[in-house]
Amino acid sequence: MSILVSARNLVKKFGSLTAVDGISFEIREAECFGFLGPNGAGKTTTVRMIHCVSPVTGGTLIVNGLPAHINNRALKKMTGVIPQEIALDNDLTVYENLIVFAHFFDIPKREAKKRIAELLKFVELEAKRNSKIDALSTGMKRRLLVARALLNNPKLIVADEPTTGLDPQARHLIWQRLRQLKSQGVTLILTTQYMEEAQQLCDRIVIMHQGQIFKEGVPSKLVEEEIGREVVEVRVPKEEDEKIIQQLSSFSCGHERVGDTLYFYCRDGQGLMRRMIELDLHNYLTRPATLEDVFLKLTGRGLIE
Ligand SMILES: Nc1ncnc2c1ncn2[C@@H]1O[C@H](COP(=O)(O)OP(=O)(O)OP(=O)(O)O)[C@@H](O)[C@H]1O
Ligand SMILES: [Mg+2]
Repeated sequence: MSILVSARNLVKKFGSLTAVDGISFEIREAECFGFLGPNGAGKTTTVRMIHCVSPVTGGTLIVNGLPAHINNRALKKMTGVIPQEIALDNDLTVYENLIVFAHFFDIPKREAKKRIAELLKFVELEAKRNSKIDALSTGMKRRLLVARALLNNPKLIVADEPTTGLDPQARHLIWQRLRQLKSQGVTLILTTQYMEEAQQLCDRIVIMHQGQIFKEGVPSKLVEEEIGREVVEVRVPKEEDEKIIQQLSSFSCGHERVGDTLYFYCRDGQGLMRRMIELDLHNYLTRPATLEDVFLKLTGRGLIE
């Protein structure tokens, strides 16, 4: 599979602040690659360099065969961007927003009209065609951003937190649409703070923190390697930790105390649970391990900022 984006020791500084601190990664054609990380991790800064709207401070970044600092017209033509901020023209209708954008891409009017009709259907916004932007809900605005990003039939889509602030229905609709595009061979670069979103969509992810990459891998493998299969959360006073950990030592689980909870990361959560019943422990919860556990383990369960 060929490489679409290749970064080596990539750096971005804003004055004295290093927002991206020497990261390296490769994004393959037709995969979904996710940048995960808390607020301020450097996700938006990284993807803005990839789609060539923010200059690189140091290192190398090759996108579609050319250094990212070059005014890469071919790249702009083949890229659709769903920005983190909702930047739509409030004075215009849904349709007018799209037609103006189509004009930027030099799409002939007749073709643009046809494409807009298809896209409004795709994002289920046909009924809002003539509504002003102010009359749309956040979910509708985000769906409109998806439609706008697709006007030029992109081969690469950069989606920067595309479902922030959406209800589950709207979120699932966007996930479905992004998966549909991926199945058509589109390369997807996604940033998100939602671990479920990354698990749903991404083939590979990197976890970023303070401008650096902490971890890279396939979501399900990262969960298996870093956490195990199950997580058991035990709510007991801290003073009892030592005793419980000793009683459960035969299960070779990793454990961690955070606030009021003692976490066990296990391969055999069921066995551990049976043992807890024997020990007459009640305040516990067993659940499958998720990417969120990996994320919290690596970035810390406390507040990061
Ligand atoms: N234009 C800018 N000028 C100065 N500092 C900036 C600029 N853009 C981003 N930063 C800083 O760079 C760091 C990384 O910001 P960035 O927006 O890339 O984070 P992020 O991972 O996208 O966070 P979020 O999840 O909140 O969107 C932050 O400390 C931010 O304040
Ligand atoms: Mg961001």
